[in-house]
Amino acid sequence: MTRIVYLNGEYVHESEAKVSIFDRGFLMADGVYEVTSVIGGKLIDFNGHAIRLARSMNELMMQPAITKDALLEVHRELIALNDLQEGMIYLQITRGSPNDRDFVFPDPEKVKPTVVLFTQSNPNMVYNPKAKVGMKVISISDERWGRRDIKTVQLLYPSMGKMMAKAEGADDAWMVEDGMVTEGTSNNAYIIKGDVIITRKLSNDILHGITRAAVLRFAGEAKMTVEERNFTIAEAQDADEAFITSASTFVMPVVSVDGVDVGTGIPGPIAARLRAIYLEESLKTAI
Ligand code: PDD
Repeated sequence: MTRIVYLNGEYVHESEAKVSIFDRGFLMADGVYEVTSVIGGKLIDFNGHAIRLARSMNELMMQPAITKDALLEVHRELIALNDLQEGMIYLQITRGSPNDRDFVFPDPEKVKPTVVLFTQSNPNMVYNPKAKVGMKVISISDERWGRRDIKTVQLLYPSMGKMMAKAEGADDAWMVEDGMVTEGTSNNAYIIKGDVIITRKLSNDILHGITRAAVLRFAGEAKMTVEERNFTIAEAQDADEAFITSASTFVMPVVSVDGVDVGTGIPGPIAARLRAIYLEESLKTAI
């Protein structure tokens, strides 16, 4: 089945959606993106993703491209047109195509942003078999730029990180800077020691995960203790449990770090509980 995608105000077949070779997303990675999960045909945390998108664009001095209401309408229309039950909506907004290559930002009055959205079906997101066995991660040096809080499409290093992990028979990589874990290549990283959930605090060093915000809120409501602080790979290897969060994996246990078992080497009870709470609570507010 070919998808119907959204491109600059129109719904078209994926094969007909064409973007200029001069688009700044293509030439300069001058664009931002969001990934919003869909369960039972409904959007999880749409509001959070819309707010972060507006912030990312503002930080890059991009003009607002579409109102929040219109964006919600496009998400819903794509879910309906593609009969998406479970999966994701990918959204990308670039600074548009000035019809030539130039480092200087084009005049926003003359060059409109390129807005692209498409669906990605994944029927195994909720009952993901990985949640039962857990993920293996390796550590790699964090070689990304200094504004990781902005969700840009500069994904070459995260992509290389996933390949490094794959080459070592692992599922993903945790990035390390100044001896401390920043985050996963496409997710936020956590360890659990005793009954304390530990994760790096928000700064420009990491993406401000929408799933992270929800999970920490639910953990607080469930009277779990959360410590927002840096941690090392050695601490992760010595932890009782570890996990990651993202819109595409929700809460996913990590059972091995650089070949060393975390805890008993199988998914632990706290991560499993957090995954269950996250899914249950998020579905209540899905739209
Ligand atoms: N990645 N950190 C990084 C570097 C990410 O790329 C992501 C999301 C997260 C988690 O953010 P959220 O909870 O808002 O999804 C943290 C998306 C899913 C992706 O690139 O596919």
